Amino acid sequence: MSARPSAVTYDADTGVLLLDTPRTSYSAYVGRADDIPVHTYWGPPITAEDAAYLATTTAARLASEWECFRSAANRHEEYPLDGGLQFGRAALSVEFPGSVRSIEWRLARHEITAGPGHQELALWFEARHQELTVALYYRVHDDSDVIDRWVVVRNDSTTDAVDVHRLDSAAWVTPEQPRHRMTHLTGRWAAETQVRRTDLADGHLVLESRRGITGHHANPWFAIDDGTATEESGRVYSATLHWSGSWRMLAQRELDEPAQVLFGWGHEGFGPRRLEPGEMLKTPISSGLFTAGGFGAMSHAWHEYALRHVLPNSGELRPVLFNSWEATGFDVDEVGQRALARQAADLGCELFVLDDGWFGRRSGDRAGLGDWWVNTDRFPGGLKPLIDEVHALGMGFGLWIEPEMVNPDSDLYRAHPEWTYHYAGREPHTMRHQLVLNLARTDVAEWVFGELDALLSANDIQFVKWDMNRPFTDAGWPEQPDRQGRLWLDHVTGVYGVIDALRRKHPGVAFEACSGGGGRVDFGIMARTDQFWPSDNTDALDRRYIQHGFSHLYPVRTMSCWVTDLPTFINKRRVPLTYRFHVAMAGVLGIGGDLNAWTAEETQEARRLIAQYKEIRHIVQHGRLHRLGEPGRSASAVQYVTADRKESVVLVYQEAQQYDGNPAPIRLRGLAPGGRYRVDGGPVLSDAVLSGALLLGHGITPQLTGDYASTLIRLELLD
Ligand code: GLA
Repeated sequence: MSARPSAVTYDADTGVLLLDTPRTSYSAYVGRADDIPVHTYWGPPITAEDAAYLATTTAARLASEWECFRSAANRHEEYPLDGGLQFGRAALSVEFPGSVRSIEWRLARHEITAGPGHQELALWFEARHQELTVALYYRVHDDSDVIDRWVVVRNDSTTDAVDVHRLDSAAWVTPEQPRHRMTHLTGRWAAETQVRRTDLADGHLVLESRRGITGHHANPWFAIDDGTATEESGRVYSATLHWSGSWRMLAQRELDEPAQVLFGWGHEGFGPRRLEPGEMLKTPISSGLFTAGGFGAMSHAWHEYALRHVLPNSGELRPVLFNSWEATGFDVDEVGQRALARQAADLGCELFVLDDGWFGRRSGDRAGLGDWWVNTDRFPGGLKPLIDEVHALGMGFGLWIEPEMVNPDSDLYRAHPEWTYHYAGREPHTMRHQLVLNLARTDVAEWVFGELDALLSANDIQFVKWDMNRPFTDAGWPEQPDRQGRLWLDHVTGVYGVIDALRRKHPGVAFEACSGGGGRVDFGIMARTDQFWPSDNTDALDRRYIQHGFSHLYPVRTMSCWVTDLPTFINKRRVPLTYRFHVAMAGVLGIGGDLNAWTAEETQEARRLIAQYKEIRHIVQHGRLHRLGEPGRSASAVQYVTADRKESVVLVYQEAQQYDGNPAPIRLRGLAPGGRYRVDGGPVLSDAVLSGALLLGHGITPQLTGDYASTLIRLELLD
């Protein structure tokens, strides 16, 4: 299918809207009587005539409905409103004076605008009985099939506040089909991004975070297919939310209906967000995508969109970092870190990151958070001597911070206990002995910015690992009782504001998003950071699953992966160094082990593999990822191919050998079928020349034996 230009059209006479992306179309119409936008189509490209036909036939079909216990339009709405004939969950629920919740609206105007590489449509609705304006936004890109949606709501009253109970970014409607199978990511701390598939029942399925952070337990993303899609084939509908706090994804359908998925910020029960007279509120973006080539094509499209439209500086190659956390824990000091830095540089690391323990009275997790001054017992000359040595060794310097937190045992808390979320007269719950700072307060956000700005101004720092190690509890703001409903939203915008301001002022500093591992992995934070720490779990086998799930939505270029020591603190498992490296080389390679304890052979092997990674990282970090099988099968692989198909890397893994078996050939993907490739790697593959046709159609036989066996294969196009 050849790509075509993206376009947005809206026919004011018929109310038909048509969004065209290079390989898809999306259509709806605004109902004549009630001005409710009804979804009609999402799939391969159609014409304007097709869209008009769909509008006519859908309207006729819904109008012929005679049952008096439901509304035929339910589950077809582009954006279901509370009240009226809406019996399902609403995307927009506003409480007006007198406890009135029902909204009926009329389309006031539409607006089409074009910017570089994209076009936008806004449908502006006015409530018929209240002073409220709502705009539904759609954006298409010239270079992506991803459609961005968001909503703006404005209280037009000059006298009355209204309470917004629900304000989703979008409702995504997938077609009526016999099965609606949802693929999603579940998990917990140290077990993030596990892929699950489940059929939608008649009723509701809710995935959400109620924790104030994106969460380890669910990731804001889903994919729906008819139960037959595979990695390489099938129609898949998917969507995500660009937001880093609490969120809700609610899929609803009743008998014989399409599935309608509401996606938005905030969670049920946190209290309404008051909208003052004249105030306007804009939701985060929810992005949706239709792809016809299975889960593999879906991931390619998401990755390309993320690299082109979300991640800053996506074209750069991320350096190989060393991080002190698993090596020295809280026991950091100048002498020890300088010794580690020398060893890290000797291995070939390019960035040295000093993790927790360098500040305040931080000797464990009970004290110090909030006191962002350098602990001079541990670093008598401040950080400068260490930073100077790290730079002299040719590496960049990075620092761990956890700016949204405070330990009760800290100077900050003693001075400002009221800066934390708490309820009056109640003892707040601590988790990891810490409390969450109220970044919804502008004075607190400004203080955090000031501390970090001072740190980055006083020290020559290239990288910041921004951590967030506990969820919200006791989320009160006693001095501002009417603001308790908004702190869940304003905390996140407060964090975004601080990071954005720091990036503007210190453009040379890269940021890693971390929340006890992968508790804050989403497109919202991705837009202002450079990479993720996907999990505190560095056990190589577990990482295979975590990375597999992560790659469904998030690009390899953002996936930080460390090689650490044995046994790992999670599973006490022992796996060979080469396997551990091959797993970490599947993303942005880093080292997190105590290099003092590595043997001469291990150091030599690590040096070799880091050098090899530097040769292939442009393919891994910037190439297209193909998932060849799933972890845990007798052998599976991840393959990376450059855009010009000239270079490819395959990392093959065999977790366990069973029944004396040898792995079957693994078919490669994405290569030029008519080309000839030099294939190098694996026991019997040194310098073989094989055709693209063979590699794609038959595959390579990796010949792995034993448990935790792995190999790296490189392919280079000869002609
Ligand atoms: C979190 C992070 C770890 C490490 C510790 C330090 O758990 O995910 O990588 O930085 O905090 O306390």
